[in-house]
Amino acid sequence: MITRRQFQLGSLSMVGLAALNRPTTARTIAAASLKPRPGKVRLLEAPEPLTDIWGYGGTSPGPLLEATQGQPFAADLINGLSEPTTIHWHGIRIANAMDGVAYLTQEPALPNETFPYRFTPPDAGTYWYHPHNRTWEQMARGLYGMFIVRETEPLAVDRDVPLIFDDWRLDSDGRIDERSFGALHDKAHAGRLGNVLSLNGKPADDIHVLAGERVRLRLLNAANARIIAIAFEGHALDVIALDGQPVDPFKPDGNVVLLAPAQRADVLIDMTNETGTRSRIEVLTQRERIHMGDIVYDAHERRRARPLADKLTLPPNPMPTDLDLANATTTDLVMTGGAMGQMASARFRGREVPIRELARRHGKVWAFNGEVGMGGDPLAKYTRGETVQIRMINRTAWPHAMHIHGHHFREVAHSKRAPSPHWRDTVLMMPDEEITVAFQAHNPGKWMFHCHMLEHQDGGMATWYEVA
Ligand code: C2O
Ligand code: CU
Repeated sequence: MITRRQFQLGSLSMVGLAALNRPTTARTIAAASLKPRPGKVRLLEAPEPLTDIWGYGGTSPGPLLEATQGQPFAADLINGLSEPTTIHWHGIRIANAMDGVAYLTQEPALPNETFPYRFTPPDAGTYWYHPHNRTWEQMARGLYGMFIVRETEPLAVDRDVPLIFDDWRLDSDGRIDERSFGALHDKAHAGRLGNVLSLNGKPADDIHVLAGERVRLRLLNAANARIIAIAFEGHALDVIALDGQPVDPFKPDGNVVLLAPAQRADVLIDMTNETGTRSRIEVLTQRERIHMGDIVYDAHERRRARPLADKLTLPPNPMPTDLDLANATTTDLVMTGGAMGQMASARFRGREVPIRELARRHGKVWAFNGEVGMGGDPLAKYTRGETVQIRMINRTAWPHAMHIHGHHFREVAHSKRAPSPHWRDTVLMMPDEEITVAFQAHNPGKWMFHCHMLEHQDGGMATWYEVA
């Protein structure tokens, strides 16, 4: 029986926090072999049972992968599952053939097959990896991990701490609720929300620090669909990167980091409290503050008498950021469907299908520009080097975490506020919002563009574009 970690389905909430303390001079894994396979993890406090999951190497999160900016990286996927899979290197500006999208950039690896991934990450930052085949199921079962690309010059911080948040839907015996996989209700509403939160694959996790330390937290929201707000009691936060890309350091609103599914934030914290103290790491929901662990100060030792005073800014990445907006090609993307939506029908497999039939027969409930899912044709074809603007119009009653493969983008217009200046790979859109994003189409290939609320993606919110 799940007891203290249980919370209401559909409530905007979660459990537990953990931290993996690592020296900043960590080794670089230039080669890895990644075997997705069944395993067991402790998502609930003992004496509750362990949970059967799928994970890379049988663990969730999978191994922390590290590469160095501009240095080759190699990983062999060895499929230990009973269904086809791939690995997508989320946020990395990668050669198209290595992007890991089943049936678009590669054939998936069948059970027992191997697929060699080889690439050189151009940008330093916090990224992650996950399957891109039946993603809604494979990720909900625990398949994902963090991918850190180190700066060539190490950053002057004392500690580098990955914090990976996830949201699990467990039944009363602590097992992953399999019966609700693919549920139409989840697809048409907010996606698969869980009832148990984890931090670094545990119900809760602590960050052990010394007074006076400067810590770089690497936050990732690996949930299928849950938007997560993260707070650190008694500590001021400086956001230094979003979705892997450096930003001018800023203090987040309310001292809370809000992450849509798939988003990352690098946050700097100076450990200004006293030796021997503890303070809470929390996920905030509308109703509660869920305790995910503590920042724990060593009782005796301190790193330095007073915290560092200098500012710390990450070096820029070599990503092309010139935008020629005057001559940009603009593409509209109208998002429709879902519960409480107005969509009566949409194109699916070449014909116009009424919404009831789409939902009941095919499990599809969303459309982009009136088309369900990938269709045959790309959303648009762009010429290499041109500036692209995509105007996303959310005509649904739901938030969406819109993710573009192959390129980071920047907002150039927003219907509700000033556009954000940050380069991202995933942007959260609220109902009725309209956001125009722009990027320079520098990376040739066929790239996916979808909602990262994975049940929405499966329910039809997916398309692709081509850069020739
Ligand atoms: Cu993490 Cu297609 O995405
Ligand atoms: Cu969505």
